[in-house]
Amino acid sequence: MERTQEEKYLTIALTKGRLADRTLALFEKIGISMEEMKDGSRKLIFENREQRLRFFLAKGPDVPTYVELGAADIGVVGSDIIMEEKRRVYEVLDLGFGRCTMCVCGPEEAREKLRHHEMIRVASKYPNIAREYFYNEKQQTVDIIKLNGSVELGPIVGLSDVIVDIVETGSTLRENGLGVLEEVCPLSARMIVNQVSMQMENVRIRGLIAMLRAAQSASANLKFASRKRGKA
Ligand code: PRP
Repeated sequence: MERTQEEKYLTIALTKGRLADRTLALFEKIGISMEEMKDGSRKLIFENREQRLRFFLAKGPDVPTYVELGAADIGVVGSDIIMEEKRRVYEVLDLGFGRCTMCVCGPEEAREKLRHHEMIRVASKYPNIAREYFYNEKQQTVDIIKLNGSVELGPIVGLSDVIVDIVETGSTLRENGLGVLEEVCPLSARMIVNQVSMQMENVRIRGLIAMLRAAQSASANLKFASRKRGKA
């Protein structure tokens, strides 16, 4: 798509790490490439002058903050963060990658305590999700302890009975002698949009969403076709 020099830059906040890599790969499929971002640089912000796009890298929990306050028009972030941060943004697209599950995890002996609705201690990077799950969904009073990482330590060192955390491959749990006790909800990477930008830049943003959707279904069809070929 041709752009004029005066056209405003659209700013896209990406979650640093694996999600950013997957997002860039998806954007490449629709002809938006950010070569600079791939060379292991420590730079945090990158421009594609031709397409009038600016990408920057942020910590997951900060992405909805940038988007709600308009420092970014668009953000790509996990649905866990969206649920936890509760920012006023539009969630417009499930990107289909970064799939994992929010779970209550712990040692096997915690299962009984959960079943009997005992007053347990729950460690989590996601205190809002944990509160919503135990208080609203399960109607169970628990003590929630906020941690910032390596949450699996909680039950191991006796800080908490269980944890509420993301499980992807399950290897962190296994290697630490813990298991999934209950599933809270499935998670994946989502695209979010600032509410004002959605109105002011409606055509461009809708165009971008449509192209990303088309790229997603093209690769889904490709996978389906190759599975069928494999079976034939
Ligand atoms: C996340 C999560 C689990 C782990 C799950 O941690 O909090 O610890 O990944 O992945 P797995 O099921 O594939 O083992 P992260 O790597 O973000 O580090 P952190 O615990 O320091 O936040």
